[in-house]
Amino acid sequence: MTFFAGRYAFLRKLEENNTNVHKQIWLVKDPKENNELILKSSVNQADAKAEYEIMKQLDHSNIVKVLDGITFTHGGCEYFGITMKFMKNGDLDNFIDSKRNEQPICWTENDALRLIAQLIAGLSYLHQKEIIHRDIKPSNIFLGPENELVIGDFGISDTLGTTRMTRIVGTDHFLPPEAIEEDEEECLSFARDIWSCGVVIYMISYQKHPFTVSSRMRTMMNICEAKMHENETRFRKCDGLINLCLQKEPENRVANGSFLSKNRNIENLIYQLDHGIPPSDFCFSDNIVDVVQAVNAKLLQENEKIAEITYIRKKKKIPSNS
Ligand SMILES: Nc1ncnc2c1ncn2[C@@H]1O[C@H](COP(=O)(O)OP(=O)(O)O)[C@@H](O)[C@H]1O
Ligand SMILES: [Mg+2]
Repeated sequence: MTFFAGRYAFLRKLEENNTNVHKQIWLVKDPKENNELILKSSVNQADAKAEYEIMKQLDHSNIVKVLDGITFTHGGCEYFGITMKFMKNGDLDNFIDSKRNEQPICWTENDALRLIAQLIAGLSYLHQKEIIHRDIKPSNIFLGPENELVIGDFGISDTLGTTRMTRIVGTDHFLPPEAIEEDEEECLSFARDIWSCGVVIYMISYQKHPFTVSSRMRTMMNICEAKMHENETRFRKCDGLINLCLQKEPENRVANGSFLSKNRNIENLIYQLDHGIPPSDFCFSDNIVDVVQAVNAKLLQENEKIAEITYIRKKKKIPSNS
C-alpha cells in the first residue's frame, strides 16, 4: 500500500536508523514530474516553516533547490515538509571518508579546488543575501552526479539583523573559538560561517579535521587557539584560503563569502562556473587571459552546436519549439 504526503508518494526513509518520528527525511516520488525528491519533515512546524522560508529565497547552482512546502499527516503526526532535489551522490562527509581510505592517494590540489570553488560560490551568494547558514559542515553539503557541490540544511540559518541566540546551536567541532570560550559573547555575524567554511576547506584538502584529537578537551583547546594539525602534503592555494578563514579573532578573518570569492585563484574558477564550465573542465592557470580564452572556446563550441541544431531543424523543417 502506498502512502502519500500531498501528491508525493513515499518510497523509503532516508535515514534507516532514525527513530525520531518528529523529524523524518523520506525519499518520495512526485507523480507529476515522475522524479524522486527528498521530503524533509518535522512535527515542529514553526522551525520547518522557517527553514522553508529561507530556502525559498535561494536560487543558485551551489545551494540545494527547494521545490515545495506542504502540511500533511502521517502515522498520527502532523508534519510540515519541504521537498527538494535529491542529491544522489550523498554528502561530503561520506565523500571525504572514501577519499581518506583510497589507496594509493591520488587527490590533487586541483581536485580540492574544484569543490572548494563551488563551496565558496554558494557561501558568497548566501552572504550577499544577508543569510548566515550557521551549520556549514560536510554532512550538510551534498554532491550531485557530476560531483557538483550544493549547500543544504538551512535548519538553523538566520538572516543578518535577527537576534537568535547563537551559543546553543551548531555542531561543536565546527564552532568558532568565540562560540566555545565561555566568557566570550558571540554576536551573529558572517564570521561564524567563514570559520566553519575554513574547517571544511581544510577537510576537502587534507581529508581530516584540522583540530580534532581523541581527547574532546584537547580538541576544544586546539579550536580555541586555532591550532591546526600539520600536514605532510601542502596545497599552497588551499592553505591561503584556510588562513583567510581559520583565524582565532573573528575580525582577522576575511569578512564574508563575497570577499573569499575574490581570492584570485577562486575568482578565476567562479568566473568559469558562471559561464557554464563544469568543474571537471576548469582551467587552473593563474593568468586571467588563459581563463578567458578557455571560457570563450567553450562558448564558441556551444554556439556552433546551437547553429548546427538550427541548421538541421531548418533542413528537416522541424519547428524550433519542439
Ligand atoms: N537533498 C538531499 N539529497 C540527498 N540527501 C539529503 C538531502 N537532504 C538531506 N539529505 C540527507 O539527510 C541528512 C540529514 O539532512 P539535513 O538537511 O542535514 O537535516 P538535519 O537537520 O537532520 O541534519 C543529510 O546528512 C543527508 O545525508
Ligand atoms: Mg544536517
